[in-house]
Amino acid sequence: MANLFQINGDTFEEFITEEQIQIRIKELAVKLNSDFKEHVPIFIGVLNGSFIFLADLIRNITIDCEIDFFKLSSYGDAKISSGQVRLLKELNCQVEGRDIIIVEDIVDSGLSLTYIKKLIEKENPRSLSFVSLLVKKGLPKIDFPVNYVGFEIPPDFVIGYGLDYAQKVRNLRSIYRLAPPNTAA
Ligand code: IMP
Ligand code: MG
Repeated sequence: MANLFQINGDTFEEFITEEQIQIRIKELAVKLNSDFKEHVPIFIGVLNGSFIFLADLIRNITIDCEIDFFKLSSYGDAKISSGQVRLLKELNCQVEGRDIIIVEDIVDSGLSLTYIKKLIEKENPRSLSFVSLLVKKGLPKIDFPVNYVGFEIPPDFVIGYGLDYAQKVRNLRSIYRLAPPNTAA
């Protein structure tokens, strides 16, 4: 039986296990280590959701690199995007001439990435790439590629491994998705 988790009357089922996540992260890191070996990229985590993914990814990166963070807000405490992105914390690094790798937990509508792309491109980086652990299939309205994708998933609401439900459950070690309404917990 599926591993279930309940919060606020919603039932979630285990969807991507801790082990599957770690295997995929190692694969992504191998690719990044090779693609950026000639440079010293800056990995930029998008807070809050990406903090666990970035921490695990970066420990598999073996080339010289730097780390910084953006903090964006678009969801508030809802399960559906408010459609508005706000910048809550700016970068502290010089972007000009550098190889920038944006690290996201999940791409849903794509609004956050579009917002970040505009912001970074104004600063003239040498290159700009996007890594996302999850991308919701068919949803992102973006006209540029997410260069490194962990898993393509159906457009369900997911939690755990950094992803929150009203700011909670980011500490779950696996990724869970909303279960069908009559799933018994
Ligand atoms: P966007 O809609 O692509 O702009 O996604 C913005 C942000 O919303 C992501 O970086 C996540 O932090 C959050 N988000 C999107 N989908 C989910 C989800 O299914 N669960 C939890 N957070 C999500
Ligand atoms: Mg995020």
